[in-house]
Amino acid sequence: AASVEHTFMVSQVKMTHLCKETLATVVNGQLPGPAIYVTEGDSVTVHVVNKSPHNITIHWHGVKQWLNCWADGVPMITQLPIQPNQNFTYRFNVIGQEGTLWWHAHVPFLRASLHGALIIRPRNGASSYPFPKPDREVPIIIADYWQLDLAQAARRMMHGFLYSFANASTINGKLGDIFNCSGVPEDNYVLDVVPGKTYLLRIINAALFAEFYLKIAGHKFTVVGADASYVSPYTTDVIAIAPGETVDALVVADAPPGRYYMVALPNQAPLPDQQTPEYTTRGIMQYRNSHSSADGPARLRSDHGVEEEEEEEDDGSFGDVPVAPEMPDIHDTFTSYYFHSNLTNLYKTMVPQHVDERLYIVLSMGSICKHGQSCWRGGGHNETILIATMNNVSFQHPTGKTPLLEAHYNHTGSVDVMQELPDRPPRPFNFTDHALITDGPKEMALEPSHKATVVRRFRYGAVVEMVFQSTALMQSDSNPMHLHGHNMILLAQGLGNFDAAKDVAKYNLVNPPVRNTILVPNLGWAAIRFVANNPGVWFIHCHFEFHLTMGMAAVFIVEDGPTMDTSLPPPPANFPTYCGHDDNLLS
Ligand code: C2O
Repeated sequence: AASVEHTFMVSQVKMTHLCKETLATVVNGQLPGPAIYVTEGDSVTVHVVNKSPHNITIHWHGVKQWLNCWADGVPMITQLPIQPNQNFTYRFNVIGQEGTLWWHAHVPFLRASLHGALIIRPRNGASSYPFPKPDREVPIIIADYWQLDLAQAARRMMHGFLYSFANASTINGKLGDIFNCSGVPEDNYVLDVVPGKTYLLRIINAALFAEFYLKIAGHKFTVVGADASYVSPYTTDVIAIAPGETVDALVVADAPPGRYYMVALPNQAPLPDQQTPEYTTRGIMQYRNSHSSADGPARLRSDHGVEEEEEEEDDGSFGDVPVAPEMPDIHDTFTSYYFHSNLTNLYKTMVPQHVDERLYIVLSMGSICKHGQSCWRGGGHNETILIATMNNVSFQHPTGKTPLLEAHYNHTGSVDVMQELPDRPPRPFNFTDHALITDGPKEMALEPSHKATVVRRFRYGAVVEMVFQSTALMQSDSNPMHLHGHNMILLAQGLGNFDAAKDVAKYNLVNPPVRNTILVPNLGWAAIRFVANNPGVWFIHCHFEFHLTMGMAAVFIVEDGPTMDTSLPPPPANFPTYCGHDDNLLS
């Protein structure tokens, strides 16, 4: 196994899009940041040099970090953030995982500009893929572009200003020609292809707020992996991907040579009374020699403005206007449900049969008064802050200067507001009844909500079954639930309220998919199992940034096992320490 080394220089750079210059916090001056390519079994070293004004951590999304929780990169949970002008070196091994993962900053909102691919190839080379060997592999990162200062947007949200929106969606950093400024379209991401060749697209949703549908006109995808785990080949013309998820898909360039739009459409579940902007973006899949100019007309158009259009009309070749795919409706949640239900593990999944702990976790929203106590039923509206909850508790980030992992490791007391995550909601409820939405948010809170640093302890090796239940209050957003340090086996999902009496029979105990992020169906539920066998302090949260920032999160503490090699070793050298500049270490 080799060792792969990178230096990540985090700094602010000027970017100009849509007629406006923005200061963006990025790695090595790039957006998306550098892709890390490894072979399974490699060790990875990343030196993070923080030249930005923000506190930063980098999380290796989906990397199991076996006995290496110290490198998981969650501020105040596993480490103090890397403060401005500090450095920290992350070291980890990538073992037993193949496919596409990614890395991102784990401080509120900043992952919108601090992210990149982490691609794990098999030890024995590309010929050992369990699918036809691709001719080329291409990361496709779907993200959003913000002109608003991200740290400021996060603070606004934490103080109860609900919505801040991105200005555009992007594919590999390009806004696409739907977006323009004074008539000059933005660049499209262009994938150049050769007729007959096979491309492995490694698709990542790095956006803060939107689940996306991805289509390429005239082409089909064969999905072969998700979250760095192989799935049974599944052929589809549309991919649904939620924030935090990855999908590996083969595309064969088997259409008549030409130019085809690759469209990413945010799937916005119906918002009852609100209008949100639509941020469709498009790239172009372009067959080699399908246009006389190497740069393609999209580039010409942006270089020369409108005059170019006439020439394109007259060109007569098929290359000018790319073929557009027909997209699902923007409010269609069923296509996503169908896509996610169709994924199964390529192999037989080792599903643990005996369950030690069961949690039924209701994902919802509540409100608290600005001054702490609940404003449920009758609290003054101006004084309430909306919070997102798991079983009616909203996660409070530890505010001291000792991260939870360090306190756990040293057995040094605990955080004041630490509280056990309840294993069920406070009272039964019709969670997905549509009618509820008309009664407005305050009727939806199960009970007065509150904030606490919610944790749940598991003994080493415990088999945990969790059902995530979505609620009517969540019907306008998606809930991709992400667990650090462990993969989850997705046993089943369904619409409506989970009913153990009939739904347990639907569990797939043969070849369920293995994921690090579980998209809980809109107005539905998802049931998972995982084995708590990685000692440490692990974050579990919704990857929809709005929910995470508002507290839809908890911490799972996995106790050490009986032996040295099932116990968490000491922290690495040069672990960040508090350097006394800043009281709020989260932004
Ligand atoms: Cu990709 Cu805790 O996140």
